Amino acid sequence: MPAETGLRAMLGGWPPAVLDPAGPYSKPVTQLSWALLVGGGVVFLIVLAALGIALWGKRAVRDRLGGDRAIWIGGVAFPVVVLTVLLAWGLWLTSDLQARGPRPGEMRVRVTGEMWWWRVAYLDGAGRAVVQDANELHVPVGQSVLLELESADVIHSFWVPQLSGKMDMIPGRRNLLRIQADRPGTYGGQCAEYCGGPHALMGFVVVAHTPESFRRWHAQRLAPPPPRDRGRGEALFRSSGCAACHTIAGTPARGLAGPDLTHVGSRRTLGAGILPNNPGTLAGWIAGSQAIKPGNRMPDYKQLRADELNDLAAYLAGLK
Ligand code: CUA
Repeated sequence: MPAETGLRAMLGGWPPAVLDPAGPYSKPVTQLSWALLVGGGVVFLIVLAALGIALWGKRAVRDRLGGDRAIWIGGVAFPVVVLTVLLAWGLWLTSDLQARGPRPGEMRVRVTGEMWWWRVAYLDGAGRAVVQDANELHVPVGQSVLLELESADVIHSFWVPQLSGKMDMIPGRRNLLRIQADRPGTYGGQCAEYCGGPHALMGFVVVAHTPESFRRWHAQRLAPPPPRDRGRGEALFRSSGCAACHTIAGTPARGLAGPDLTHVGSRRTLGAGILPNNPGTLAGWIAGSQAIKPGNRMPDYKQLRADELNDLAAYLAGLK
């Protein structure tokens, strides 16, 4: 893997890398992509050569290569054989990505596409949500994870190119997709179906942990939330109406319209994969997210003074 530098390191794997598979479900997609790219290039060169011969070739060469036989071979037999082989090969290669249901003991996560972010719920064996998060998915390396992909509004498409194929999220449906990372790291994702407004700014991050680090992360998320700073930041969160849309476990904030903020301070990014997460960007996002991600559903909070913004951002950044 190339060293993570610049923007990609800052944003944790975003923008996503393609054709650089990091697990078994992405490899066949990469193979297929290369085969199509190289095969398509070869066919393009053959067509150019045929065009050149038709325009400028000698009469004798044109007569020998052209005619009905060329149409039957080049126009009918060749496409039928090539497309049939590609279809069969593609279905066989990607048959593991799609799942009918979880394997015994397999980790399950429900990811719901919303305009224009991702709701993430880690499920127990019975399919109940035990941990809520947003825009970020934590997985152990070397294990397949079953994603239940849903949509709350319009069609989105879940795509983390280094870990799996691409799958649509369709309102009223549940699509299943397997992902797996075989090396620790952060992997960027992106909504791959135009869903209006800031579709291009609907990013996603998968963090792949070593087994030990994943156990720590999981235990921390399952533990009751640590005591909060009951200072001015939390008071501002309440008085500004944030709780109407956001949940913070262990507090009265129970809103469901926006991302769960219980652990917002530990997330890699803000605004669904588009900003590095720190108190400065948090304050900027609260004051003017419409300038950063035009059309997103969070209003600007321009009424807050700079010192108030800083207190509010410090409170949120402390929610690890
Ligand atoms: Cu969601 Cu495009």
